[in-house]
Amino acid sequence: MATQAAELVFDEATKQYPDRPEPAVDRLSLTVPAGEICVLVGPSGGGKTTALKLVNRLIPLTSGDIRIDGRSINDQDVTELRRSIGYVIQQVGLFPHMTVEANIGTVPRLYGRSRQWIRERTAELLELVGLDPSYAKRYPAQLSGGQRQRVGLARALAANPPLMLMDEPYSAIDPIVRARLQDEFLRLQRELRKTVLFVTHDIDEAIKVGDRIAILREGGRLAQYDTPENILLKPADEFVAQFVGADRALKALSLRTLGQISLRPGTWLDGLPQIDASTNLRDALGFLLAGGSDRAIVVDDDGNPLGTVTPEDIVR
Ligand SMILES: Nc1ncnc2c1ncn2[C@@H]1O[C@H](COP(=O)(O)OP(=O)(O)O)[C@@H](O)[C@H]1O
Ligand SMILES: [Mg+2]
Repeated sequence: MATQAAELVFDEATKQYPDRPEPAVDRLSLTVPAGEICVLVGPSGGGKTTALKLVNRLIPLTSGDIRIDGRSINDQDVTELRRSIGYVIQQVGLFPHMTVEANIGTVPRLYGRSRQWIRERTAELLELVGLDPSYAKRYPAQLSGGQRQRVGLARALAANPPLMLMDEPYSAIDPIVRARLQDEFLRLQRELRKTVLFVTHDIDEAIKVGDRIAILREGGRLAQYDTPENILLKPADEFVAQFVGADRALKALSLRTLGQISLRPGTWLDGLPQIDASTNLRDALGFLLAGGSDRAIVVDDDGNPLGTVTPEDIVR
């Protein structure tokens, strides 16, 4: 499947709802490079959903502009614009009276794709999002919440859009399934390399899935737009520091794995617990503290020892 991605630019984008004293989104400017995941995060009412819906013109801009690959959204036919953008929401919004295949085929049908094409594409997409192709003939009511969310993602990907908008897609899903969906989404993204604008109110989710994070404060004003590492280690102001939490140094540990730090020699030591090099530093620290061990042997995928690590090495 050929893939493509578009650059997304917010240029002083502003939304003022009628009869409201303050704008919901206030002169938002940021650039999402093609192929990156930008997470919009912030408190409830901060203007995240509004900012997202400005992009596919579900809500009209009051002033400013939004450009996709250099082209203003207002210069495009609104139907064409929406078809070229994948949209995934928390409530999923599958048509209940239609099968999974018919749901996934919604946009391709509008483009005049044949039944055969849609059938093959559905099977391919279901596999991609981690569902057995036999689900094509089921109805939404026969699926769990997590499965419905997977179908929603498959439907958004069906026309291979260069840009995806995702509004709290996993917020209503229980934590274990949510973690799995996040992992699968990241695996998928490594393959597809779409440009993604992903909204969440959960800073941990933002850190996990974002290449960059935009923090919105009340009134839809951008507080910081930066890499997860800089958001955690160099918060721009007190609002950001509060929002990311007092444990931000600990959260920053989750951004690196044991394989990315220098280890001590001493792989011959017997009787020490073993830990995979792919473990992130936060989990590794938890592992050492929970086991009451002051040292562990780090092993690669094949179980070969690479060196040892102590809690002090991790914190440093
Ligand atoms: N259709 C609307 N009309 C008037 N005000 C709205 C409308 N939709 C949202 N708002 C207001 O705009 C602000 C931002 O809302 P929203 O974008 O939904 O925030 P978030 O997604 O970050 O929770 C809130 O104060 C909300 O009450
Ligand atoms: Mg919202």
